[in-house]
Amino acid sequence: MATAIRFSVDGEILEPGEAFLPLPDDGLLRGDGVFEVARIYGGRPFALDLHFDRMERSAAAIGLDLERDLLEGDADRLITSNGDADCLIRIVQTRSGRRILSLEELPDHSPTISLASVSYSPTVVLNGVKSLSYAANMHATRLAKEAGAEEALFVSPEGIVLEPPTSSIFWATADGLLRTPTLEAGVLDSITRRKIVERLEVEEGEFPLEDLLEASEAFLASTTREAHPVSRIDGHEMPVVDGEWTGAARNAFAEALAEDLAKPYG
Ligand SMILES: Cc1ncc(COP(=O)(O)O)c(C=O)c1O
Repeated sequence: MATAIRFSVDGEILEPGEAFLPLPDDGLLRGDGVFEVARIYGGRPFALDLHFDRMERSAAAIGLDLERDLLEGDADRLITSNGDADCLIRIVQTRSGRRILSLEELPDHSPTISLASVSYSPTVVLNGVKSLSYAANMHATRLAKEAGAEEALFVSPEGIVLEPPTSSIFWATADGLLRTPTLEAGVLDSITRRKIVERLEVEEGEFPLEDLLEASEAFLASTTREAHPVSRIDGHEMPVVDGEWTGAARNAFAEALAEDLAKPYG
């Protein structure tokens, strides 16, 4: 679990250990609610509007009225309270309507990452929904660690590559195509993935795990990882680690970030 710096609960800013929630709340008791995690660069959030748009879609998908205006105000006050730090903001709304936000330290990712495939059936009713029901995602990472890797890669029972538990995956084929699973496969509409797909030529589809294992290079994409080179999948060493495709994705993301941070904030 990431280290919390500070919380906001229903608009009140609180230090860790000071924040409490009244029960019952199905957000906690049943994982019924929605969340987002956005990155703060030097006190400025990246693509916060897109995170709130996705949160609104997630909430609509599970019949929850999102208090977007209140959450946006909470987020601005919490971010401002922390000066120009680099960190994450987690934004949660529970089924009972509690607004919980936390500022968190950035996770300490290793320079490259190894993956182990974990069989997973998309839930269908929650496809594309960033709900609080993430126990399967968290447990998949533990299973991958037991298998000697650092992170899991969800693969459908039919052998189609989906995504890691909290990121998207891209890979380059030997003949120079950049591929990523299609959203129709049941993966999350990742904001980092979207920024890369908008700037690079990417083939989106349903691809078998063998296609990925034959790739020359692969990387993960997410808010916390940006473009994170993959070193190994199911014990198979990637021929190229942090090569030209990962570099191209990193540059594409840097361009998106620069564009976003150039807009006025606050
Ligand atoms: C299942 C899943 N896929 C992909 C991502 C990456 O999304 P983003 O780029 O918006 O951080 C996340 C983020 O946590 C996720 O939970």
